[in-house]
Parts: sequence; structure tokens; C-alpha cells
Amino acid sequence: MMRKQLLAISSQLFAPGDWVPRVSILSPGKGTRFTCHMLASAGFFALALLSGCRADMQNQPKMYPNRGSSIFADQRGARPQPANTVARGQLRGDSFFLTGTVPGADGYRQEPNAMPFPVTMEVLRRGQEQFNLYCAPCHSRVGNGLGEIVQRGFKPAANLLDQVRLAQPVSRYFYVMTYGYNAMPEYATQIAPEDRWAVAAYVRALQLSQAAKLSDVPKSVTVRDLKDIAREEGLPASAAEPWTAPTNAVKSYQPAEGAPR
Ligand code: HEC
Repeated sequence: MMRKQLLAISSQLFAPGDWVPRVSILSPGKGTRFTCHMLASAGFFALALLSGCRADMQNQPKMYPNRGSSIFADQRGARPQPANTVARGQLRGDSFFLTGTVPGADGYRQEPNAMPFPVTMEVLRRGQEQFNLYCAPCHSRVGNGLGEIVQRGFKPAANLLDQVRLAQPVSRYFYVMTYGYNAMPEYATQIAPEDRWAVAAYVRALQLSQAAKLSDVPKSVTVRDLKDIAREEGLPASAAEPWTAPTNAVKSYQPAEGAPR
């Protein structure tokens, strides 16, 4: 019945080979009201049919952690952890190596001024490579916190050579890389724990190198003034002066009294 009616309407509206309707639905004419009713109800049926399609995507056959499931013999949706595996972010083996902290007697975490493995020249080279890749964009290659990103307006990254950072234990650098610090993102996903420690050791080496005194250098080594080198290379005298933060850099803020740091 329905099919016959629809066919009748379409033959009334279209002749074979026609691309435009013969009867305008908007202009009143014979049978127009009937056609309008039929088109409206056909549209309604199409909508009802199409909305039915949505249910498949809405009710996905997925597991909810604390809801039962008829798929498994134990009737649980949450599966037991396979033996000898560790869920991501839940490794609790050597906690100092992985977090840079040890539990203190007072219950708070402590940051010892120590490395979990000996620092060799090879470790420092690896640390230098990783520092120049991951940290220098913000902290600069010498660690003064005025890297390229800061030149383009980012908040000045901490000056790793200032008194605050010099006084920090070496594991503090590892901790900051692992968990991030204020505007600084964490690097645990990009840099493996061994390499984070290598970078921490390299930050210490940078601090020593940037605060080196003439007496630290063996007698046999010739030490030259940076200003002389700048002059010889045709650089402006300011090239040998300490850098200052560019005016477009977001200024560092002073945390409120008693705010967590
Ligand atoms: C995207 C820019 C950026 C990168 C890349 C970056 N830092 Fe930072 N870092 C910052 C900023 C900004 C601060 C200061 C955060 C503040 O004081 O709000 C900071 C602070 C620090 C501090 C001081 C933490 C403290 O307790 O005072 C250390 C140490 C540090 N960064 C080490 C690193 C090391 C190591 C790397 C490389 C793995 C690195 N940062 C990469 C932006 C960066």
C-alpha cells in the first residue's frame, strides 16, 4: 500500500527522463496538499529509520572495570594482571633510581645529593648530548635559562647557574625532569631514567664549568679572556658579557608567601 502510494506520487511529480519536479510543491495546484502530506510522512519514516542506526555506535560492546561480564568464566569485566608484568607508571623497583627521592624518617620524601651510579666521562658525554637536545631550547647550552624559546617570548627558564640551583642536590634535577616544575613540562616520557641521571650529572658539570676560577685550571693550560676571543672573531663586545632576558619574555613571578614551590 505504502509503496504503491509513493510510486504514484513520484510518477505524478516526475516523468521518465525528468530531473526537475513537474509539480511545484510550494505553488498550490491539484493534488499538492496530498503530495505534501505524503512527503512529510516519508521524511518522518526515514528519520525514524536513520535514528535506529545510531544505537549500534551508542551501545558499544566494551568492558567497564567494575561491571560484570558474561564473556569470562569468572564473570568479571576487569581482568587480573598477567603474572610478571608491571602496569605503566607503577614500577616500584629501585625507587631512588626511578624517582630521585628516598623516603625520609619524618615521612616526607628526601632528595639526597647523590647519583645512583658512578659518573664517568661517558656518562657526562651522554648527559651533554641529551641536555643540548632537550633542555638547551629553554635553558640555553650553558644553562643560564635564556634559550631560544625564551628569546621568542616563553617564560625565562630557571638559571641553572644561580645560587638557588647551585645549592640544590643533584637528584633535584632528576626529580624536576621526571615530574616537571611549574611552567616546565616533565621529560620522563622522552628521556629514559639513565639518561635523566646523566643530564643531572651534566648540569653539575655545567655549574662547575661556568663558575670556574683560574686556580681550577692546570698550570700547563693557557687561559684566554673571552673578550679577546670576541674581538678576534669580529663579534661585538657584548658577546662576551652575561646575557639578559629579552623584553618580550614572560616575566618570572614571585610566588606568594607560603605557596608550595
Ligand atoms: C619548554 C622549556 C623548558 C625545557 C625544554 C626545559 N625546562 Fe627546565 N625549566 C623551565 C622553566 C620555565 C623553569 C622555571 C619554572 C618556574 O620557576 O616556574 C624551569 C626550571 C628548571 C629547574 C629548576 C627547578 C627548581 O626546583 O628550581 C631545573 C633544575 C630544570 N628546569 C632543569 C631542566 C632540564 C634538566 C631540562 C632538560 C631535560 C629542562 N629543564 C628542560 C623550562 C624548560
